[in-house]
Amino acid sequence: MPKATFLGHSCVTVENGKHKIIIDPFLSGNEKSAAKPEDIKVDHVLITHGHGDHVGDGIEIAKKNDATVIANFELANLCAKEGCKVHPMHIGGGFNFDFGRVKLTIAHHGGGYGEHANVYTGPPVGFLITMDDKVMYHPGDTGLFYDMKLIGEMNDIDLAWLPIGDNFTMGIEDAVKAVEFLQPKKVVPFHYDTFDVIAADPNQFASQAKGAEVTVLKPGESIDY
Ligand code: NI
Ligand code: MN
Repeated sequence: MPKATFLGHSCVTVENGKHKIIIDPFLSGNEKSAAKPEDIKVDHVLITHGHGDHVGDGIEIAKKNDATVIANFELANLCAKEGCKVHPMHIGGGFNFDFGRVKLTIAHHGGGYGEHANVYTGPPVGFLITMDDKVMYHPGDTGLFYDMKLIGEMNDIDLAWLPIGDNFTMGIEDAVKAVEFLQPKKVVPFHYDTFDVIAADPNQFASQAKGAEVTVLKPGESIDY
């Protein structure tokens, strides 16, 4: 049974005793983060899009751990130029890694790297990650989209993370609809309260979401799925 740990914002680690991966490692720039980049030991770094609150410390963590960055083709190439080992992929494509399968989904959002987010990093993506036959969906930053219904139909999702912070992504009302589309067994809200502009009440989301077990995690807390 894989264990997922919330490290704050959109950063999640997944481990099964044999492998450990990290997604969107925004740690040193996030005062609410539950970990320091130098303490992270992983074999893969997955990054959903080029924004600073998702690439975060990913390049440094990948290089220090000799870990492979998994990202869309454009962002993977940027990381390769920075000295990382990379595995480029793109939307709709899946690949069987030693730790499990990763498939890239669409996400409706922006993509751009650097102080002014003006370095092209291709479209944002989400990740469907199958480890030990358990399916986890990390949608990255996205608005609600109707194809979530298709993602839910084609995948028996054990755990879905959903942004609820509004402004840059779905807010609570749309995240509740996303739960209806995705039909996951378990849901954890994220991408809220990191900054004032994305303040949200996760318990309001928990009380409104139907058909899934919602767990509100504080940075540093884990969930088995
Ligand atoms: Ni973003
Ligand atoms: Mn973000």
